[in-house]
Parts: sequence; structure tokens; C-alpha cells
Amino acid sequence: MPSLDKPDSHVVDTPDTSSVAAPVTGGEPAVYVEDVRKSFGDVEALRGVSFTAERGQVLGILGPNGAGKTTTVKILSTLLRPDSGIARVAGHDVRKDPAAVRRSVMMTGQYAALDENLSGRENLELFGRLMGLGRKDARHRADTLLEEFDLTSAGRRAVRNYSGGMRRRVDIACGLVVRPEVVFLDEPTTGLDPRSRQGVWELVTALKNQGITILLTTQYLEEADVLSDNIIVIDKGTVIAEGTADALKEKTGGSYCEVVPLDPTQVQAAADALGDLVPQSLRAELAGADRLSIAAPDGAGTLSEALRRLDSAGIKLADIGLRRPSLDDVFLSLTGHAGGQP
Ligand SMILES: Nc1ncnc2c1ncn2[C@@H]1O[C@H](COP(=O)(O)OP(=O)(O)OP(=O)(O)O)[C@@H](O)[C@H]1O
Ligand SMILES: [Mg+2]
Repeated sequence: MPSLDKPDSHVVDTPDTSSVAAPVTGGEPAVYVEDVRKSFGDVEALRGVSFTAERGQVLGILGPNGAGKTTTVKILSTLLRPDSGIARVAGHDVRKDPAAVRRSVMMTGQYAALDENLSGRENLELFGRLMGLGRKDARHRADTLLEEFDLTSAGRRAVRNYSGGMRRRVDIACGLVVRPEVVFLDEPTTGLDPRSRQGVWELVTALKNQGITILLTTQYLEEADVLSDNIIVIDKGTVIAEGTADALKEKTGGSYCEVVPLDPTQVQAAADALGDLVPQSLRAELAGADRLSIAAPDGAGTLSEALRRLDSAGIKLADIGLRRPSLDDVFLSLTGHAGGQP
């Protein structure tokens, strides 16, 4: 398991509950935030943030540096008190009942260091005892988790003989001995190599399969795209957009058609051939470009019309295709900042 231990990613308190966290009651979303404000001196970090995260879903929280993502996550995990507004996690108010909130959440960096000389089962049992479960409950929970993580046969072997992948699964299972309602992952993959990043993606999927709600902030928009059920974009302390990755892409202008002439000096000629498919504003920006992109409101219809016009003008193409905006395009158009580099 990669180390998720970075300063932004802690809950200091270990849940001290003696039983599995109570489920969220009624139709209350797992996380409910209404008009939350937080200032540090004269820095208004949050200027009235509102959003919800549905139970069992992954909510991606995107935003440029300093947008207020970590402040939001810290308020929800009771590491910071909001100045005003309402924030409830698993039905518990962060101001009125912070202890109940802490029992319901897990943040990254909380995983037990495995004891190499104990078996996977013994590690899980030990962790359960440390979390306050009785002997019988701890054993029962360990067996359930071994089964869920496909480790039943390996469960009795010492962890030092485990493969990397098995070790990671035991690690994740330890985090679930006392099942949290909500997990906060604040940039869990920043600075990790691709393989370790993959491990975190697997973790997110494993948590989600357990019905756990996840709030995930990330610099890597592709990650938010793949993992999130819903996304909020925060900028300068407020939520400026919300929706599924697809809905956000649609809002940003939908599909476009990219045209790459074989001869890069023919971009202007291609624009002329495309005629009214190329808006005037775009023509001004073509100097020096090796390709051009036009809106494709009719999807394949626009593409075939473009092809027909280019063909009759005799313009040879290196490539032409229908493209969907990436989440990076969305982010750029919403915030004026580029997203993080993968
Ligand atoms: N303890 C603090 N004291 C003073 N200012 C703070 C403190 N914590 C955060 N801020 C300020 O609040 C704003 C929001 O910060 P926050 O850490 O929430 O942003 P972020 O979206 O997590 O950014 P990043 O992408 O860089 O992690 C920033 O202007 C930051 O400088
Ligand atoms: Mg941050």
C-alpha cells in the first residue's frame, strides 16, 4: 500500500467506537453542506460553500490551488470549525456532535502498520481489538473481511510471505475493520508513481463496493473523471459548477471536430474550405497552428459535412475526428486555470 500519509490527509482521532458505525438514517445524504464559511484572518477561504454527497457515491472535489478544498475537507472531518453554515456528516453536525462525526469517518493515512510475523487474519483481529471490538466480534469481522478481499486461503500465512497485492488488500481491509460511513481522500495520489496511484484507485473502488461514501480531491482530472459519480468545482471559496463528468463536459460545449491537415501550412486553406463551420473568432487565432477545432453540434453529421467540404477543396488530411472535451477543458473553461499534470 502506498503511503497516503501527507499532512493534508489526516484525521488525528482514531475511531474509538466499540461497534460498527451506525448507518446514516432516513434520506439524509452522507454529507450535507450549506453555506459554510471560513476565514483565516482576512483570507476568506470559504465564502458560502454548499453541496451534498449521496450515500455510497464518490464525490470529486476539484479546484485550483487555494480554492478551499482542504479547508472544506478539514471542516467535514472536524479538524477545523466553520465560522458559519451547516455541515453534517453521516447525519451528525460537525459543530454540535464532532465526536459522532469522527466515529463515522476515515481519512487517508490511518492504516495500521501490518505486523509481518502475524498472519493476515491475526492482523485484522488485532486491529479490531485495538479499535475496541470484543474478541468474538473481532474474529468474526476478520473472517468476513478475508472473504470479501479474497484472502481466505492466505489468511493464516504470515504477512511477510505475502505478495505486494495481497499485502495491499490486507491493508485496505484493516481500514474497514470498523466500517466508516464516509472517507476523505485529500489528494491521495499527488506525487505517487503510476503503480502506487493504481493502488489508490483500487482502494477507492474497494471502499465504494462496501457502500462507503468517498470525498476525493485530486489534481489529476482524469482521476476525478474515472472515479467520481459526481463532481463539484470549487474556486475562490465557492462552488462554481456541479454535475457528473459527462454533464460538465456537455456544459463546456459538447463535442468538437478536430481537423489536422497533412500540410500544416494548409490550416488557413482548410478554414476557408470549411466556410461557415468556422466561427470568425477562431479564424483570428489560426496563425501558426497546425490544426483547428470546430464545434460539432450535430456530432457525426458535422464531421461528415466537414469531410465533404475539405475533400472537395482538395485538402489532404493527417487526421480528422470527433472529440469530446476532457475534464481538463472543462476545468480550464470554468476556472481559467489548467488542471494538474498527469
Ligand atoms: N491555517 C491557515 N491560515 C491561513 N490561511 C489559510 C490556512 N489554511 C488555508 N489558508 C488559506 O485558505 C485558502 C484555501 O486554502 P486550502 O488549503 O483550502 O486550498 P486548496 O483548495 O486545498 O488548495 P491546494 O490545491 O493548494 O491544496 C488559501 O488562500 C490558503 O492560503
Ligand atoms: Mg489542499
